[in-house]
Amino acid sequence: MTTELKAHNSSLPCLNNNNDKFSYETTLPPSWPMREEDPVAALAMARPEFGEHGGVNLSIENSITFTVMEAETMRKMFEGELGPERDFFIYSRHFHPTVMALSRQMAALEGTEAAYCTSSGMAAISSVLLQLVSSGGHIVASRTLYGGTHALLSHFLPRVCNITTTFVDVKEHEMVRDAMVEGKTKVLYFETVANPTLTVANVPALSRMAHKKGVTVVVDNTFSPMIISPVRLGADIVVHSCSKFISGGADIIAGAVCGSKSLVNSMMDLHQGTLMLLGPTMNAKVASELSQRIPHLSLRMKEHSHRALVFAQRMKNLGLKVIYPGLNDHPDHHLLSSIANKDYGYGGVLCIDMGTEERANSLMNILQNHTHFGLMAVSLGFFETLMSCSGSSTSSELNGEEKELAGISPGLIRMSVGYVGTLEQKWSQLEKALLKMKI
Ligand SMILES: Cc1ncc(COP(=O)(O)O)c(C=O)c1O
Repeated sequence: MTTELKAHNSSLPCLNNNNDKFSYETTLPPSWPMREEDPVAALAMARPEFGEHGGVNLSIENSITFTVMEAETMRKMFEGELGPERDFFIYSRHFHPTVMALSRQMAALEGTEAAYCTSSGMAAISSVLLQLVSSGGHIVASRTLYGGTHALLSHFLPRVCNITTTFVDVKEHEMVRDAMVEGKTKVLYFETVANPTLTVANVPALSRMAHKKGVTVVVDNTFSPMIISPVRLGADIVVHSCSKFISGGADIIAGAVCGSKSLVNSMMDLHQGTLMLLGPTMNAKVASELSQRIPHLSLRMKEHSHRALVFAQRMKNLGLKVIYPGLNDHPDHHLLSSIANKDYGYGGVLCIDMGTEERANSLMNILQNHTHFGLMAVSLGFFETLMSCSGSSTSSELNGEEKELAGISPGLIRMSVGYVGTLEQKWSQLEKALLKMKI
């Protein structure tokens, strides 16, 4: 038996006595769907992973290929008779124990039956869409999406796969409903909190609408891990760029697809699976790193959110055009309050509309080079504040008309608020820069 070779610490305490050490599920007792509504509670209920020698941390499985004791076992694994749920692994482009351990954490975080992690957020997005939509298929997507996703849908998928997308304003529910063609539209795709406008999607209403037409709802939750749980609100699948808040260190590119066990299995299918055949695999060392950061994600999110709210309120009081869904007068404030998980705030990203790109650039120059408030860089979720002018950077894939429709003005600064330094120290740096700009 393989157990001779694969010595696990089966005697170590295990919350639910589940012997399927590497099963796909989040292993929350008693069974899916998960009872814990709060992501932190769900994570705490997930089975702890111990190291090979009883270490308090998960061991990194350093191999990409795995032995069998009998030659016949190999055929059984390739025919799907034996799989990771019984601790049989083939090769690391397929399931891998360490990546599966992180994936179980991601599933617990999002309240899904299963999850699998990928080499980047774009790998997660493109793999899931290519799994769900075949050539000739149709997607309905929000007009306001991360520029890379927008380019994938508007340029790459039509050219390479004859998959077309109708872009809609997800706030206009009638427009969304009309765009979905029963039988042809396979996916409704949007971002919970949109990049960069911070528009909040009504996940429950959009999901109900899509399901009536037999359409699968895929939601990018990169901006709001912990804060919003789209699948708990009715969506089918969540994708993440783990390169952002989930990593928190601006040092890792990674992604995740969270959904049903059958979705993950289909993506790993040896003949038809996008994860298996396109190979956007996560490295085991990366999985181990990220796994260590998930336990403090909630603390980080709370502090990002707290500081973003304080800065947004103070800047608004100074007369700046601030966009932040935590502000009472933001059009989506009540919606976000009604769908958000309690105590994680309204998110760590805010926007300032400076009117023109020139003024946006001047403010960012002062903030970085004179008052040392933050860094001019794309990405988000880092402990330092990161800022970029979206129209000319992470949304530059959209043409002028698309940007206008998406609500991205040329002077929009997207600011991912960090938590280094004291809040008052950082505010004084921000205030000094605004004074220098004569605001
Ligand atoms: C909302 C959103 N989704 C997906 C991505 C892509 O993620 P990655 O850079 O990890 O491929 C980004 C990246 O910038 C993003 O902002």
